[in-house]
Amino acid sequence: MAGRSSRRRFLEATAALTGALTSCKRAAAPEEEGPRRIGKPLRAYGERSEFEKSLRALPTTKILEVGQSYTPLAEIYGIITPSALHYERLHSGVPTIDPDAHRLLIHGMVERPLIFTMDDLRRLPSVSRICFIECAGNSHLGYGAKDAPTVQLSHGLVSCSEWTGVSLSLLLSEAGVDPGAKWILAEGADAAKMQRSIPLEKAMDDIIVAYGQNGEALRPEQGYPLRLVIPGWEGNANVKWLRRLKVVDQPYRTRDEASKYTDSMPDGTAREFTFVMEAKSVVTFPSGGQKLAAPGFYEISGLAWSGRGRIDRVEVSTDGGTTWQAAGLSEPRLPMALTRFLLPWRWDGREAIVQSRATDETGYVQPSHEALVAVRGANYEYHNNGIRPWKVRADGSVTDVAG
Ligand code: CO
Repeated sequence: MAGRSSRRRFLEATAALTGALTSCKRAAAPEEEGPRRIGKPLRAYGERSEFEKSLRALPTTKILEVGQSYTPLAEIYGIITPSALHYERLHSGVPTIDPDAHRLLIHGMVERPLIFTMDDLRRLPSVSRICFIECAGNSHLGYGAKDAPTVQLSHGLVSCSEWTGVSLSLLLSEAGVDPGAKWILAEGADAAKMQRSIPLEKAMDDIIVAYGQNGEALRPEQGYPLRLVIPGWEGNANVKWLRRLKVVDQPYRTRDEASKYTDSMPDGTAREFTFVMEAKSVVTFPSGGQKLAAPGFYEISGLAWSGRGRIDRVEVSTDGGTTWQAAGLSEPRLPMALTRFLLPWRWDGREAIVQSRATDETGYVQPSHEALVAVRGANYEYHNNGIRPWKVRADGSVTDVAG
């Protein structure tokens, strides 16, 4: 029955659409054409059209070697983030690394310490996988995410690529892991010497030592020539410019997992090693900063993802959470990947509060902001996966709900 009523809604919405398209067709009379000029020549490496202007948002500070840039989520089609628009998080700038000189060391509690060149790694059996990477601080309240004016600033620290490389489990098996080993310590070649401790169980499961991104080599800001890709886990643990993996028997509690990326709780305790990015979604159209031209048909669109697997369901409310409708989920719907949701909508020209709520295949439901605050207090920094509403005003402008 739910299917039938959503089909009826779709037909009602598309009836309005048909009218809109007919009027477009009438308006578009072909103009008189002169002789056509020969276009631009072949080129060896492509660039986007000069008319396309989507950009990552940069911090407003003068220092750009530390901080983050944000993916323009409202301007992305489908689920793959163009490599040039993948969000960046830098702790000490982007190092320039010659791949011929780069080495990966695996040592510690292993039978055979190993050093791999990039050529060695590319000779091994490869794996490719589409998955998201999300900064633990995405939608960070300290960045003003609760009232961020655009979805780029509120949610733009998540991106999704096809990553290619070697299974970490294969490399560890080659080295021969000692029975008492429980963790690995991953280290980057950046000046900040990024180090993160990762449980061996995950390392032997689905982690990729990646050299490829969306069909070509990693972008420098994504760790060229080598990085960890840890499906579903917070971005910071996906160590970039990877140079060393030490197999150990305990977590090292390094600077970047003690001073940062640990969650302070209201009672003064802290949650450590909260790796999984839990189910989350956000409406990207309509979202803050956009403007609806007139009442009529629109397609509500957005992105959902979960570090625990596939997205099973996304519900959308256009009336401030009073009622919810199941959105359509575009294929492919991959585990630990961005999933596109869509819902036809007829905007009646009155103020509307639009928001989405994701459920993943484990049955976990994305919480409200209020539910998160009740558990973690009002000042939590990481893992903010709360529901994010947008307000469509009667004049068609879209703002955060406080706006
Ligand atoms: Co965490």
